[in-house]
Amino acid sequence: MQSFDVAVIGAGAAGLFCAGVAGQLGLRVLLVDHAPKVAEKVRISGGGRCNFTNRDLDPRAPHKHFLGENPHFCRSALSRYTPNDFIELVRRHGIPHHEKHKGQLFGDRSSDDFIRMLLAECEAGGVTRWQPCKVEAVRQGAEGGYALDTDRGVVQAGRLVIATGGLSIPQIGASDFGLRIARQFGLRIVAPRAALVPLTFDAQAWSPYASLAGLSLPVRIATGEKKQRAVFDEDLLFTHRGLSGPAVLQISSYWQPDSPVQLDLAPGLALDEVLRQAKARSRRLLANELAAHLPARLADAWVQQEAAWQRPVNEVPDKALAQLAQRLSDWSLVPTGTEGWRKAEVMAGGVDTRELSSQTLESKQPGLYFIGEVVDVTGWLGGYNFQWAWASAFACAQAL
Ligand code: FDA
Repeated sequence: MQSFDVAVIGAGAAGLFCAGVAGQLGLRVLLVDHAPKVAEKVRISGGGRCNFTNRDLDPRAPHKHFLGENPHFCRSALSRYTPNDFIELVRRHGIPHHEKHKGQLFGDRSSDDFIRMLLAECEAGGVTRWQPCKVEAVRQGAEGGYALDTDRGVVQAGRLVIATGGLSIPQIGASDFGLRIARQFGLRIVAPRAALVPLTFDAQAWSPYASLAGLSLPVRIATGEKKQRAVFDEDLLFTHRGLSGPAVLQISSYWQPDSPVQLDLAPGLALDEVLRQAKARSRRLLANELAAHLPARLADAWVQQEAAWQRPVNEVPDKALAQLAQRLSDWSLVPTGTEGWRKAEVMAGGVDTRELSSQTLESKQPGLYFIGEVVDVTGWLGGYNFQWAWASAFACAQAL
């Protein structure tokens, strides 16, 4: 039987980083992953360029960019390992990168740069990586610690770190392993759900908009009531089955089934006023006037909804113009669902943070730690989820 100080299960963002840091602190670390390829989610992240962190993250106010039953849980880890710390590591490895909008940092070349960096950090820490390797069972060891039954034999480890991520994209290795281990040791789970995911609509109700698939435009999107209200100014993308794009991915994390989302398709524009002015000076079709402010395809599809809107603007009654402006700036619609795990970028929910120390990520089961996405901490789109992976991994590694 082989013996290690620490076994980390899951060689994704959090697992690789934790194993590397722990190894460099002098621990004998085994890193195990069942997938044939390392860190597949890092590879496909950020459209292949890895949006590895976000400069706008404020560790003192994590609730601004993170969700979960306790959005303050992540404060401790995020303030001890900040975006600047990770940027410094990226610089040390000479990885060229740039800032896109809203503080998002991406690699200039490819996500492979970041995977190589994480592997190099593991190598510097003398980490043993078994991949692919299946963990069949986890038991408490006879002399404390944990025994893992793997398809490469039984392993003894003093501490066990679960970094198996969330349920999204099962085709590249996602599994419910972390949630099963939590249950096995009597730890509570917050029901997992797909987040950062496109929203879908009833096929018949969506048919007037299906022809808009591929169209993208800046919008304001909102959901929820009063204190719970979430609002984003981002790009919207029409798809064959519903809505996607950054605006919808962001709002999906806050959306509750059977409730509406509200869209302003002309944010920052007093459309009512603009259309009344157009009526006073123009004889062009209303669709053409609208197309000065909205994508022409959207304007065309929209006016098809009412006969009164399919006329020259000067012939459209004031009330019909006001209705049009109102519907474009406050379009309320109730999604029937989401595209689910197949398309979700992350899992919301996971291991209940009440079961974990916010300082060390150790659970109430001594020696058992949970880091990264398997924990009920979900970030906004824009590099926040990776920063949680790095920060939770670092906090854990310091405590092992
Ligand atoms: P991660 O998923 O990285 O790793 C989990 C590992 O555990 C995997 O290697 C898996 O094979 C392994 N595993 C699972 N079950 C196992 C089992 N039973 N036995 C052994 N191993 C097992 N975030 C961000 O901040 N910026 C971005 O640009 C993007 N982009 C993005 C694009 C797409 C398409 C997706 C799907 C996701 C993103 N994300 C993102 C989210 C980000 O990828 C995610 O939050 C982190 O990878 C989470 O890191 P973890 O290490 O927790 O899980």
